[in-house]
Amino acid sequence: MDLFIHPTAIVDDGAQIGAGSRVWHWTHVSAQAKIGERCSLGQNVFVANDVVIGNNVKIQNNVSVYDAVELDDEVFCGPSMVFTNVYNPRSAVPRKNEYRRTKVHRGATLGANCTVVCGATIGEYAFIGAGALVRSDVLPYALMVGVPAKRKGWMCQCGERLRGTGRTVCTCGLAYQTTSDACELAP
Ligand SMILES: CC(C)(COP(=O)(O)OP(=O)(O)OC[C@H]1O[C@@H](n2cnc3c(N)ncnc32)[C@H](O)[C@@H]1OP(=O)(O)O)[C@@H](O)C(=O)NCCC(=O)NCCS
Ligand SMILES: [Zn+2]
Repeated sequence: MDLFIHPTAIVDDGAQIGAGSRVWHWTHVSAQAKIGERCSLGQNVFVANDVVIGNNVKIQNNVSVYDAVELDDEVFCGPSMVFTNVYNPRSAVPRKNEYRRTKVHRGATLGANCTVVCGATIGEYAFIGAGALVRSDVLPYALMVGVPAKRKGWMCQCGERLRGTGRTVCTCGLAYQTTSDACELAP
């Protein structure tokens, strides 16, 4: 599997990008970034130095993955969504030593134009709706929408809402045990 880097992209010397990944127009990957296999970095994406990105991650157009952001395997970043790393920026006050980390667990989706305030951990397969504002930790499989984001329900690994309570089987066949504050795969 070949690595594809569009001629307009800038990949700084030392950047690690795994086999089968694609880096599209005008994207910039910094020297110490670590990116896994089979990833797609759309147009005008920026990846900073202190960034680790897993395998099969899709980053749509116009997303900056700033220092202190970590994306596990199969995370989806919708177009123009926003990460942050300084909690309370002031132009006149240097805060480079105060970055708060953002960790996005396996399979999570971050919808178009959403914002993740730094310091949040997003659980596996959580689904952040388009335009949402996330400012605290998100439970695995949670569907979060709005400003500020609130949980509307639970979302299957396949991206369909889980309807019902207790043991719930998705149309795709995966079964879950849900309560009012947790959702996990069930046998
Ligand atoms: C979440 C989403 C998948 C819809 O899922 P769904 O299961 O069809 O959910 P529904 O449309 O039934 O919505 C459930 C509730 O959440 C609300 N809702 C859904 N998406 C919302 C959003 N992005 N912002 C605010 N509210 C939202 C609905 O209004 C509804 O509220 P109600 O129960 O009070 O009526 C979709 O709205 C969304 O945000 N998709 C992301 C698209 C995207 O960013 N793609 C990027 C790649 S192009
Ligand atoms: Zn499903």
